[in-house]
Amino acid sequence: MDGHDAIGSRVDADVRVAADAEELSLRAAEVVAGTIRDVARSAGRCSLVLAGGSTPRPLYALLASRFRATIPWDRVQAFWGDERYVPHDDARSNYRMAREALLDHVPCPPANIHAMRTDFDDPDAAARNYEETLEGYFSSGERRFSIVLLGLGGDGHTASLFPGSPALEERERWVVPATAPVEPRRRLTLTLPALSRSAHVHFLVTGASKARVVRRVLTGAADPVHLPAAAFARGSGAVTWWLDHDAAATEE
Ligand code: 6PG
Repeated sequence: MDGHDAIGSRVDADVRVAADAEELSLRAAEVVAGTIRDVARSAGRCSLVLAGGSTPRPLYALLASRFRATIPWDRVQAFWGDERYVPHDDARSNYRMAREALLDHVPCPPANIHAMRTDFDDPDAAARNYEETLEGYFSSGERRFSIVLLGLGGDGHTASLFPGSPALEERERWVVPATAPVEPRRRLTLTLPALSRSAHVHFLVTGASKARVVRRVLTGAADPVHLPAAAFARGSGAVTWWLDHDAAATEE
């Protein structure tokens, strides 16, 4: 590395460093597509939990293009890790982003696309509605997601689990309403019990602005209450951290 030793050589987590965001998206998409194929072949279906934000968009585009023909879309069940509590046609909607970047371009049956509804007056009713969706899906099979994609915020949040959030204390419910420190403040999010049980978790993190929080999450004994993504830092075998060169830098 040009004067930057990558964080990956210093931690016991599965860290994969790519030269840039483009290479990261390609390598991660290849692994995700392969896992979808393997799980769909062995279990007959594959639950894929989609992340919001901007980082996953190129990976979604690759799943919808370069890897499209390699994925059994009829056996893919799409879920969301979190949602901004806005209409689905709002430019800030994670549902809208995933539809535009991926789901509108692949033959995933509409019945397999499980959006978090945001049309209840009370977000808690929406969270309970999604919980019912998950209960229905998991009623036949192991109660854990096959693949979860996650991003990382500069404050250590992931999905809509923000530092200090009561949602981090939830140990029973899989979906809860949450409040973000930035607009849109009202959110829905999967909880740590829901996310951490997953068979394959992929964090996608790019850019120099994330290098510090990546170091804090992966190298410190950080408390998930203050740094939620730290809940996934231990080398559990199920978690892969995809970092580009800038996000993996170990010095400022
Ligand atoms: C959201 C995401 C959120 C995101 C991080 C990183 O709804 O915004 O769930 O957790 O993954 O904020 O966002 P970027 O990928 O845009 O940096």
